[in-house]
Amino acid sequence: MEKKLKKLSKRVNFFLNRYLSKFNSSELVLPMKYGLFPGGKKIRSKIIFDVGKIFKVKKKDLMSLAASVETIHAYSLIHDDLPCMDDDRLRRGKASTHVKFGESTAILAGNSLLTTAFEILSDKSFKIEDKIKSDLINLLSRCSGQTGIAGGQYLDLNYEKKKVSLKKILNMELKKTGKLFEFCCLAPLLIKKNKKNLNSFSRIGKDIGLLFQIIDDLIDFKGKTRFAGKKTKKDTKRGKATIISLLGYENTVKYVHKLEQNIYNKLRIHSNKADELKETIKFIVKREK
Ligand code: IPE
Ligand code: IPE
Ligand code: MG
Ligand code: MG
Ligand code: MG
Repeated sequence: MEKKLKKLSKRVNFFLNRYLSKFNSSELVLPMKYGLFPGGKKIRSKIIFDVGKIFKVKKKDLMSLAASVETIHAYSLIHDDLPCMDDDRLRRGKASTHVKFGESTAILAGNSLLTTAFEILSDKSFKIEDKIKSDLINLLSRCSGQTGIAGGQYLDLNYEKKKVSLKKILNMELKKTGKLFEFCCLAPLLIKKNKKNLNSFSRIGKDIGLLFQIIDDLIDFKGKTRFAGKKTKKDTKRGKATIISLLGYENTVKYVHKLEQNIYNKLRIHSNKADELKETIKFIVKREK
């Protein structure tokens, strides 16, 4: 799996680098590229390609989707690390963007990466029907703004040092992380005008995102900074409301395995066409970073 992710990462980064190089005239492109490259695991891109494989979507179209999702993800991490948010100085094994370039530049680079996503989707080189294009842009906007990442990040910060119910924690994790994974699962279907599977893949996407965030929380709890490339054991210190803080480590691990099995059950009707996606989910659960 690591090899596959590396290969995919190279291709997505190539696309993004070529895209951003068109605009080298702006000095802001430097901190943007710093936050974006070499980047992280590219799990969201992998999910887009895995779902694309099930429904036979053209790879070229999947690449535009992946690039747009990775720019939004990179933006969310730059802002997540800011002193006014999680105040983290290490990201992806190097200094966080604000440590390297200063806070105001990091904010502006983040903003610009967010809008880059919509530039990529609306670009004329992404050759799909206009209606599908506007549906994709609409969906990605809703997964990023107050009903998605930004809304979830607000709750995450608001819940610090508070006793919060399981339902509220799940809703927060769904927004801050689940929604972007939902986009990854729905976007290939939108391109194919496949209405039949929209509901089930919306659920599958949200569940994978939730699973991903809970594992991230477990990595923070038990993992090593050296492996993770970001400082671990910080959530408890900051009083983050996580499933671990509510249910404890053992019960969270049990919760993860139930969630994982639920996803496989939902994928069963796609038989071996979903093997690649299942392999990615297994990797998500086993990963150390
Ligand atoms: C970290 O995401 C932030 C969360 C939503 C949990 P990733 O673990 O995908 O980060 P990178 O891209 O691999 O660095
Ligand atoms: C971040 O969650 C989720 C985002 C949408 C950025 P975390 O704050 O747990 O992510 P890490 O652990 O810093 O990567
Ligand atoms: Mg955070
Ligand atoms: Mg953080
Ligand atoms: Mg975390």
